Amino acid sequence: MSSAFENTIFEDPILNVIHLLNSIAQENPAAISLASGRPDDKQCDPSLIDRGLARYKHHVAGTEHSLATLLCQYGKTSGIINEIIATYLRVDEGITVSNPESIVVCMGFQEACTLTLLSIFEGGGVLLVPDPVFSGITGIAKLLGIKIVPVPMATFLDPSALRKIVENLESRGEKTKALYAVPDFSNPTADSLSCHARSAMLSLASEKNFFILEDTAYRYFRYEGDAIASMKSIDSSRVFLLGSFAKSIFPGLRMGYVVAPEGPGVMSFSGRLCKAKSLITVNTPALCQAVVAGLLIENDYSLKGLNHPRVLSYTKKRNHMLECLEREFPLKVGAQRTVSWNHPAGGFFVNVQLPFVFGYSEMRECAKLFKVIVFPTTLFSLMNEAATQVRLSFSNATTSEITQAISRFKAYVEFRLQ
Ligand SMILES: Cc1ncc(COP(=O)(O)O)c(C=O)c1O
Repeated sequence: MSSAFENTIFEDPILNVIHLLNSIAQENPAAISLASGRPDDKQCDPSLIDRGLARYKHHVAGTEHSLATLLCQYGKTSGIINEIIATYLRVDEGITVSNPESIVVCMGFQEACTLTLLSIFEGGGVLLVPDPVFSGITGIAKLLGIKIVPVPMATFLDPSALRKIVENLESRGEKTKALYAVPDFSNPTADSLSCHARSAMLSLASEKNFFILEDTAYRYFRYEGDAIASMKSIDSSRVFLLGSFAKSIFPGLRMGYVVAPEGPGVMSFSGRLCKAKSLITVNTPALCQAVVAGLLIENDYSLKGLNHPRVLSYTKKRNHMLECLEREFPLKVGAQRTVSWNHPAGGFFVNVQLPFVFGYSEMRECAKLFKVIVFPTTLFSLMNEAATQVRLSFSNATTSEITQAISRFKAYVEFRLQ
């Protein structure tokens, strides 16, 4: 191979995370996997496709639009269901999108964030991300050559500490152009931003003139407590809202969207987003848009309503995983826990703290010898944070698989502590 193709960004470990998830499962077919953040197979119901499409066809029949043109022709780059998404955002989030063209319907979150980064980062600048963080954002930012500054999660959640980071960068002549946040139940650590932290982050963004990329992939998976207002609903002018229907409907649709910042005197980004999209995917497949639109209409434009059965099922799985952890790693009287974990109020993951380092080779060892696949949280870190943490996903395992998997994982931990 020519040296021009060696030691490139394509060798970066962050670009390997998804591949790793798939390959380790293939190498260990008998292992139970708590590694992937896939939604529950049982929620991926193909009859939703027929239902959504039928409902959308019925909807179009009541308008002056031609179904043939809408579904079969090249489509408008920004999408054909923008009004319907705008209505859902008003119903579920109290967000008023004044111009539906501020919404660009995309092929999943992944395209939404690609277009957004392209529209913001021409000419340089810094992207702040919490660390550890979902590799979908850092992977694409690296591919696009964007400078990423990872901020340890504890600092990221603390408004005054975050301000210092932005100011330090400023003093070194580095312009923060955007910050990526998953305010509700992040991946991999299931952390959320408090109401105060959201407002403080928005004020900092206004003061220092940067944008917030708000990823709401897990927002509707809350199992306890009251919802906190989305950042977009607090200040639209600073926020690119990056939505995904991957967890709320199913990922095979590859459906998501971006809502560009809006407000008096705010530059319109939709033209940039659409120009980039017209060269990357031309338009999002109309059939997939139709299914999502039909399902939203059927549920009175509420994704929350559509999601309700999923939330009940994931609540049970989360509770079950926490009970299994409690049973397998009990608190001994007078002793400190050697293994501890968080109690996430939502999302798909429990994050476990071990008394030893757990990385790639430990993941392989655990899968091979103990037949359970769990994911090292540190593989989502750009700065070797979370070296002793493990992400356990409860979303796509049955309760009996969770029981067995946690018992096998306990056997691995005992083996390591011998
Ligand atoms: C934090 C986060 N954002 C977004 C997504 C969904 O991305 P997409 O819509 O591209 O499937 C995921 C999926 O794993 C995720 O973990």
